[in-house]
Amino acid sequence: MNSYPHPTTRYSTGPTRHPPERAARTTRYNLQVSSLRVLISAEQIDARIHELAAQIDRDLAPGPIYLIGILKGAFIFLGDLARAMKTPARLEFIGISSYGRNRTSSGEVKLTKDLDVSVEGYDVILVEDIVDSGITLNYLVKVLEQRKPKSLRIATLLDKPERRQRPVHVDYVGFSIPDEFVVGYGLDYAEDYRNLKDVCVLSDGPPAAA
Ligand code: IMP
Ligand code: MG
Repeated sequence: MNSYPHPTTRYSTGPTRHPPERAARTTRYNLQVSSLRVLISAEQIDARIHELAAQIDRDLAPGPIYLIGILKGAFIFLGDLARAMKTPARLEFIGISSYGRNRTSSGEVKLTKDLDVSVEGYDVILVEDIVDSGITLNYLVKVLEQRKPKSLRIATLLDKPERRQRPVHVDYVGFSIPDEFVVGYGLDYAEDYRNLKDVCVLSDGPPAAA
């Protein structure tokens, strides 16, 4: 079973106190501020994305290349990565459904939004927010290889290698993280938290004492 459990069941890390500047970023959700612990700060993300962008520029200039973001989680990473690169990039999106939180290890995924263009003959980078079981990317690589790109690479902001069930070759990894459920910077829990600036671990501890 490869469902995404409620954070209380597997991903709880207990109550955490936040410095005031972190708390300010999260209070607008009107949720327990204590339930979010910053794992990777906006500043760290920004610095790493510029390193990845420089690497992509070295590998793929002069372009143009296609960056294909996997909806919805990758949209912020895609936007920041695209602007950090110097190589001209065309932006596309692809949608995938993993049958909600009840997805099983049978790997049932389906395409809900296909590309609007042909990428045949182009260098393509598939841009993902996080690689977890690998089921999504394992499937998407097979789909996109049929479209005959000149090359197909994968960039992911986050990687949880401990969780892998299907092999995926990832070319550009922002951060490898432990097996914890994270939100923010595009990543959600039940559609919440996507617009947090930092990547945070979600836990369900009681509010920290004032
Ligand atoms: P995979 O197919 O198991 O590799 O899952 C990849 C997708 O699962 C990601 O694109 C996310 O949408 C979602 N996901 C995996 N881990 C997390 C997490 O820790 N937080 C939020 N979403 C996650
Ligand atoms: Mg995703």
